[in-house]
This record gives sequence, C-alpha cells and structure tokens, in this order.
Amino acid sequence: MSCFSCFSSHERRASKKYRGSKQGPVPASSSLRDPSPQSRPHNRTQPPLHQPPNEHSGKATTEATNNKAVIAAQTFTFRELATATKNFRQEYLLGEGGFGRVYKGRLENPDQMVAVKQLDRNGLQGNREFLVEVLMLSLLHHQNLVNLIGYCADGEQRLLVYEYMPLGSLEDHLLDLPPGQPPLPWFTRMKIALHAAKGLEYLHDQANPPVIYRDLKSSNILLDREYNAKLSDFGLAKLGPIGDKSHVSTRVMGTYGYCAPEYQKTGQLTVKSDVYSFGVVLLELITGQRAVDTRRRSEQQNLVTWAEPIFKDPTRFSELSDPLLKGDFPRKNFNQAIAVAAMCLQEDASIRPLISDVVTALSCLPVEPDTRFNSPVSTPSPQSMINAESHKSEMLAKEREKAVAEAIAWGSMSRNNSVH
Ligand SMILES: Nc1ncnc2c1ncn2[C@@H]1O[C@H](COP(=O)(O)OP(=O)(O)OP(=O)(O)O)[C@@H](O)[C@H]1O
Ligand SMILES: [Mg+2]
Repeated sequence: MSCFSCFSSHERRASKKYRGSKQGPVPASSSLRDPSPQSRPHNRTQPPLHQPPNEHSGKATTEATNNKAVIAAQTFTFRELATATKNFRQEYLLGEGGFGRVYKGRLENPDQMVAVKQLDRNGLQGNREFLVEVLMLSLLHHQNLVNLIGYCADGEQRLLVYEYMPLGSLEDHLLDLPPGQPPLPWFTRMKIALHAAKGLEYLHDQANPPVIYRDLKSSNILLDREYNAKLSDFGLAKLGPIGDKSHVSTRVMGTYGYCAPEYQKTGQLTVKSDVYSFGVVLLELITGQRAVDTRRRSEQQNLVTWAEPIFKDPTRFSELSDPLLKGDFPRKNFNQAIAVAAMCLQEDASIRPLISDVVTALSCLPVEPDTRFNSPVSTPSPQSMINAESHKSEMLAKEREKAVAEAIAWGSMSRNNSVH
C-alpha cells in the first residue's frame, strides 16, 4: 500500500521576538469567546487551576477529577524563578514574543535548566492566555510537545516554566542565518517536519477533547540537541470541537502568513486550519524562505502565493529548493515533500489531508542519509539478511516512487477541481 493512498480518504472523519522582519498577529475580529478555563462549556474533566500561589512551591500537585488523577504542573514562587534566572538578567534573555520575554534559568532542586516565560502584566489577554496555557499544557504530554514544568502566579506575576530546548527555535536555524552558519541539512528538515506533524497529530487525534493549536509557525517549533522538534506555546490553542460541532468559532488570532484563508476570513477554526499552517512551515523548510518577507520582490513576499503556480507544474519544482542546500537532497524525496506541502495548502479546507495522513506520508521520507551501501560494514551480516534488506529497500523505493506519482496526480486533480 502506498504511503499516500491515505490522502484519498481524508474525508473519512468529520471533522515578537527581536527581528525586524517578524510578522505580527493578524487583527482580531470581534467574536471573542472568553478563553479562561472556567468559562468553557466542556471543562468538566479539567482540574481547576491553582490561582493562589502554592505554599509548598516546587511540589507537583495531583487532583482527582471525575475519578481520574491528573498531574498538575508544579508551582513556583516569584523568588524561586528570580533566583533561577539571576534576577531576569539580560544575558539570560532567550527572546521575546507576543506575550512576554523568555529567559534561560537553572532550578536548584532538582538541578535542571529551564525556560521561564514572563508574561506581560499589562492587559487581560496575557492573564487569560496564561490560564489557558497552564491548563492545556499540564494535561498534554507527548515527546513532540514542549513540556510545561510549572508556573508562578504570585500576586500580579504570571510566569511559565518550560523544559529548556537548547537549540532554540526552528526559525533560528532555518531563516536569516548569520553568515557562516551552515544550513540545516535536508534530512534534518524532514525529521523536524515529521516531529512537528506528530506533535500536531497528538493534539488533534489523541488529546480528548481535541486541541486546535492555532499558532503553528517556525518560531514555535523548538529543538533539542539532536534536532528533535517539539511544539511550544499553547497560549493560543483552544479546545477543539466536541460532539457534532465541526468548528470552534473564535476571534482570529495567529500569525500572518501562517493562517488558513478560511480562518482569516471567517474566524472559524478547524483542525484543517492547523494543517494549512503546517503546510506553510513545510514550505519554509523546503525553500528556506519566510512565510512572509517584505524584503522580497512583491510577487515573492507571500511564500504560499508565490509557490502555488509552481505546485501545478512539476517541471518547475526545482525553483522551490533552498539555494543554500545547493541541490544536496534526494530528488524524489524533495518532490514528495512538495506534494505534501501542496496538499496541506489547498484553499479548500475540506480537501486538505488530516494531520495523521501527513504523518504517514512524511514517515516514508528518510530522516537521515542512506549510508547503508556507502559505509564499511563493521561486522559481516548473513547474505540472506543483506538480500532481504536490499530487496526491501528496492520495494520501498518503488513504493515511494509510486506514492509520489499518486500524490502529485491526486494533488493536481483536486486543485483543478477545487473552487477558488
Ligand atoms: N522552552 C524554550 N527553550 C529554549 N528557548 C525557548 C523556549 N521557549 C522560547 N524560547 C526562545 O524564546 C523565543 C521567544 O519565544 P516566544 O514564544 O516568546 O516568542 P515567539 O515564538 O517568537 O512568538 P509568539 O509569542 O507568537 O509565540 C523563541 O523564539 C525561542 O528562541
Ligand atoms: Mg512562541
């Protein structure tokens, strides 16, 4: 069975950092729903948040709700976090986004590096985002999501304590590289894409109720030392639809350039909005270009608008490659990645694949160079195993070739049939 065959069945389920070129959030529409956990209609299985600072700071707390034990995040005092970040020293500043500054810190007991996000105190939004984020993150655990270690709600202070991701964000490694910094290799890019898709798959398919992430972008994909990717920032995430509701109507938020067109127009949010944003990130990984870059020629400023005509013409695919890679990638995998991105970026949300289909498709792409036939074999393996292995890889190569052809054909067919 081909890796891409799943795409044809995608209807089966109802479904500011210091950077000049950074795009801000899209303007909000008026239909704001109170995102605080208390106001959500379906929060029965969620634990109440500890708003008053916990006297026994630093201890994980457990709450029994609906007979289910839920591990809540640790609570910290402001003093503990000030100590961890050496009084929020400038040298410890990792970056700044829409909701506040992020500092590197070190906890004493146990000794652990952390990232401390100090939310802006001015404005209700920050507090609301804080509540949502704490609630979401303390319930969600997956190897491709940044772990929330704890939080501080001392007086007016609102801080979040995350696991520290030593390599920072994908944005730092992919876009606007300082001269001399080598580009991310192709296989690392595909590994990051796969991990981000898996994080999203967990949110869409395993979290209950499902979570729509809403703000997928390269600065929200963080990397550990082995370039394993994790999604961060659930402050904008919303609980997804439950029961017969297929979308959550909410104000339009997110980051310009990554927002699905229907979400931007109507504010209606579905899991397919996340799939679109994923397509934008995948296109950034392929091209090495920002979703929106006002420094480029006008027809190239919006990455998706520029790429769309190229998606329809496979003979032009090479125009999408990141020049920094100098063609150092397997052509077939490159075409396959473009096919996946094109499908995620379909204007018509209903014909975009589900993220689980994307995971399946990306799982077929190698995440490291195939060195089996180039590197010396240290221990001789039985001939039968070698034969079986090479037979298997021939089969896989054929499968992949077929999958690419199918994907491209399917992609261009559905694009032609879709109403624009
Ligand atoms: N857990 C973490 N570990 C290491 N670095 C982090 C961590 N969280 C954030 N950072 C760094 O801090 C920067 C700012 O993060 P922040 O989430 O505040 O802003 P953003 O992602 O650029 O924008 P937004 O507010 O829209 O999410 C990130 O780009 C990243 O480099
Ligand atoms: Mg962020």
